[in-house]
Amino acid sequence: MNPRIFSFAVVVLALGLFLAFAGPVHAQGCVTDTCHQNMGKAKFVHGPVGVGQCEVCHTSGKPGHPTKAVKGDFKLPAEGKELCYLCHEPKDAGAVVHGPIAKGGCIPCHDPHQSNTEKQLKKETTSQLCFDCHENNKTTKKVVHGPVAAGDCNICHNPHSSDFKGLVELEGSDLCFLCHLDRQAQFELRYKHQPAAESCAKCHNPHATDYSYMLLAEGEALCFTCHKEMDQHLKDSQVKHSALEQKICTVCHTAHASDYPRQLKSSAKDICYTCHKDLGLQVRKASRIHGPVQQDDCYACHDPHGSANTKILKKRFPAQFYMPYATENYAICFDCHNRDIALDRFTTTLTGFRNGDQNMHYLHVNREKGRSCKACHEVHAGEQAKHIRKEVPFGKMWMLPVNYTQTKNGGSCNVGCHKPKEYDRVKPVTY
Ligand code: HEC
Ligand code: HEC
Ligand code: HEC
Ligand code: HEC
Ligand code: HEC
Ligand code: HEC
Ligand code: HEC
Ligand code: HEC
Ligand code: HEC
Ligand code: HEC
Ligand code: HEC
Ligand code: HEC
Ligand code: HEC
Repeated sequence: MNPRIFSFAVVVLALGLFLAFAGPVHAQGCVTDTCHQNMGKAKFVHGPVGVGQCEVCHTSGKPGHPTKAVKGDFKLPAEGKELCYLCHEPKDAGAVVHGPIAKGGCIPCHDPHQSNTEKQLKKETTSQLCFDCHENNKTTKKVVHGPVAAGDCNICHNPHSSDFKGLVELEGSDLCFLCHLDRQAQFELRYKHQPAAESCAKCHNPHATDYSYMLLAEGEALCFTCHKEMDQHLKDSQVKHSALEQKICTVCHTAHASDYPRQLKSSAKDICYTCHKDLGLQVRKASRIHGPVQQDDCYACHDPHGSANTKILKKRFPAQFYMPYATENYAICFDCHNRDIALDRFTTTLTGFRNGDQNMHYLHVNREKGRSCKACHEVHAGEQAKHIRKEVPFGKMWMLPVNYTQTKNGGSCNVGCHKPKEYDRVKPVTY
């Protein structure tokens, strides 16, 4: 038995014996048909009140109960919380003590006599009690956290005192994993998003917000609160990836942790093929795959968020099929390839696309109505040698065929542009 309760029982026994032998202190008792008649009738009655022991807390200076009590007739044996501590364990032992207790009181929340709410609380529910003093900005938002909606404030908060700021039962994420243990695994994957490893509160409000999952902001706005450089990058991008149209970064990234670098939901290539299924199939089926695509490095050429260039390319590449030649127009290709391939009319070194010393790249590309590389080359994957494409969309309805045959010293094209032609680096074909 708790020693305090034991000593209380002894007090009650002693008082009982006293009453039995010495006669009642006041003939009528405190609770009669006409006086304090409701005392003890509520659903939850405080221990000493339940056994009619008013005297342990109210001591009368005069013998007998005065017929008409006036202020001062009854005194409490101790003030404020000290009265309660006569029988209860102190409630202010933690490093952080709740305001009302620090100011000395227990009765702002507990009725010393009785109540229809458990623990003699003065309000019907815990949350009503809390909102008696705290402004209710917690259940009035659109998305309310489960336990808050249920009014269970004290499942997370200790109403008396705690060792942690905010009177919480456990600190930081530990508090959340008290209930969300089933989700803890998704925070322990290899690449942890720094804020999620630090504190859930960086993104979630523990009570409620106007946004799904009680997030502090909606969609990309949440991410931009920290990733300001990305916000700026997208503002600066004339071409934005349509995947960001919905303004939800988590279609590709995870907010908590991931098995893949850069908080990606899946590997760097699979993330693109989840939406670009046709391209995924094309690459998987292709017999020849362009170097960087073989390496699954889409990012060598594309910025997954946005860029200044068509097709969210990191550097320039013309959208048009024909345009006057300038090396800078093909900057994305010349990031990796010899930038001079189409520069000189005659060469024996710059390119293999030669008929003798005649530079066939120059011939096709370097002119007023120059052709884009994509007139002949696949950028991702295809079937023919030298990444020559099989067909080229021409106009609105025609797929112009390109049949390329590689030979020892050159090749031949059977194309929709002109009659079949050949080129040979050693024995130039004459036309
Ligand atoms: C555990 C201590 C305790 C016991 C036991 C107790 N009281 Fe009280 N009582 C208090 C305190 C503390 C206050 C002052 C409440 C306040 O200031 O709001 C109080 C106030 C009162 C008041 C004046 C204010 C009011 O609530 O109406 C009356 C009357 C009263 N008690 C009657 C009784 C009677 C009758 C009993 C026995 C059936 C009893 N009390 C038993 C602690 C106690
Ligand atoms: C004379 C001893 C005594 C005093 C003084 C006293 N209590 Fe109690 N209190 C008890 C006993 C006995 C119980 C019933 C046993 C129990 O449930 O722990 C009880 C029960 C309670 C309970 C319900 C506990 C539960 O777990 O259900 C609360 C709340 C409470 N008291 C608050 C107070 C407050 C607030 C004060 C000061 C205003 C106070 N008590 C003063 C003896 C006392
Ligand atoms: C801000 C309101 C508030 C104040 C002030 C307050 N309590 Fe409580 N108290 C509660 C609530 C709410 C519960 C119910 C907690 C629960 O169910 O987990 C409770 C539960 C209790 C209990 C029973 C459970 C336990 O923790 O032992 C006791 C005893 C108790 N309080 C005593 C006190 C005493 C003594 C004081 C003054 C030192 C006090 N309380 C001040 C709100 C308060
Ligand atoms: C009688 C009034 C009163 C009641 C009822 C009350 N509180 Fe408080 N609470 C205060 C005061 C006063 C403070 C201290 C405010 C301050 O320091 O700015 C406080 C502080 C707090 C804090 C710490 C705030 C901070 O900034 O660290 C929390 C958390 C809190 N209360 C939760 C609760 C919960 C949960 C309940 C219901 C179980 C509750 N309060 C009921 C008066 C109350
Ligand atoms: C899921 C756990 C959880 C629940 C349930 C919960 N809180 Fe909190 N509450 C917190 C955390 C975490 C903090 C922030 C603590 C800190 O300062 O680090 C907090 C802070 C507070 C604060 C101080 C800051 C503020 O937002 O005003 C108050 C007051 C408060 N809670 C009241 C309540 C009330 C009232 C309820 C019930 C309606 C409640 N809490 C339910 C976890 C919870
Ligand atoms: C007392 C248990 C409890 C604690 C502690 C708790 N939660 Fe919850 N949480 C719930 C319940 C219950 C739900 C609603 C049921 C559900 O959707 O899983 C919920 C739902 C959520 C949701 C929405 C989930 C969904 O799928 O819609 C988020 C986000 C969340 N909690 C975050 C947190 C964070 C952050 C913390 C720590 C500050 C926390 N929770 C602490 C019980 C808890
Ligand atoms: C960087 C911001 C951020 C941090 C930090 C964060 N979350 Fe989240 N959380 C989100 C976002 C965004 C979602 C919405 C999920 C989505 O869009 O895929 C979410 C969803 C959730 C959900 C509901 C869906 C699910 O995945 O089960 C729970 C539960 C949750 N978070 C708990 C937590 C907990 C617990 C912590 C701390 C350990 C935490 N979160 C930290 C941003 C964050
Ligand atoms: C509270 C601040 C904060 C919020 C909110 C936040 N992040 Fe982060 N994020 C960081 C920090 C800090 C890092 C680690 C440092 C860095 O790499 O910038 C990081 C890292 C990342 C990385 C990895 C960067 C790399 O170079 O590996 C990605 C991707 C990322 N965050 C995406 C997101 C997305 C998507 C959201 C929105 C759901 C988001 N972040 C919300 C702070 C935040
Ligand atoms: C279409 C998928 C996709 C979407 C949508 C997306 N990202 Fe990314 N993000 C990526 C990929 C892929 C990488 C890694 C690129 C690399 O490795 O070069 C990345 C990298 C990042 C990085 C780290 C490196 C860098 O480029 O600065 C941050 C930060 C980032 N993303 C934030 C965001 C934010 C914020 C959003 C929402 C506005 C977002 N992302 C939307 C796919 C996406
Ligand atoms: C969530 C779906 C989604 C994901 C994931 C995705 N995309 Fe997209 N992407 C789109 C949509 C929608 C469009 C616009 C319609 C279209 O052209 O198919 C688009 C268009 C593009 C375009 C053409 C841009 C333009 O201006 O026409 C490129 C290039 C592109 N995506 C590359 C990528 C790369 C690289 C990845 C991997 C980092 C990726 N996408 C991941 C949805 C997605
Ligand atoms: C060597 C540079 C390069 C690499 C690497 C690359 N792309 Fe492209 N991508 C381009 C160019 C150039 C275009 C524009 C082609 C055009 O205009 O016909 C393009 C266009 C696209 C388009 C738009 C297609 C359309 O019909 O509008 C998508 C989607 C795309 N790429 C996705 C990807 C994905 C996914 C990867 C990684 C597997 C990837 N790209 C790797 C250069 C590249
Ligand atoms: C990130 C570097 C990179 C970029 C950017 C790049 N390539 Fe490539 N390219 C390679 C690598 C590596 C190879 C060799 C492997 C192979 O055959 O694909 C290659 C091979 C080629 C070949 C075949 C060469 C041969 O001798 O067999 C052609 C044609 C080609 N690329 C065209 C282009 C075009 C057109 C662009 C611009 C749209 C471009 N590349 C952009 C890296 C790149
Ligand atoms: C008229 C079709 C055609 C056009 C347009 C074209 N190429 Fe080629 N390209 C070829 C052929 C055919 C070869 C194969 C030459 C050989 O090795 O026999 C080739 C070879 C290449 C090679 C391999 C190295 C070399 O020069 O032999 C690269 C790299 C290349 N092209 C890049 C480009 C770039 C970049 C563009 C746009 C600026 C471009 N090509 C435009 C047909 C074309």
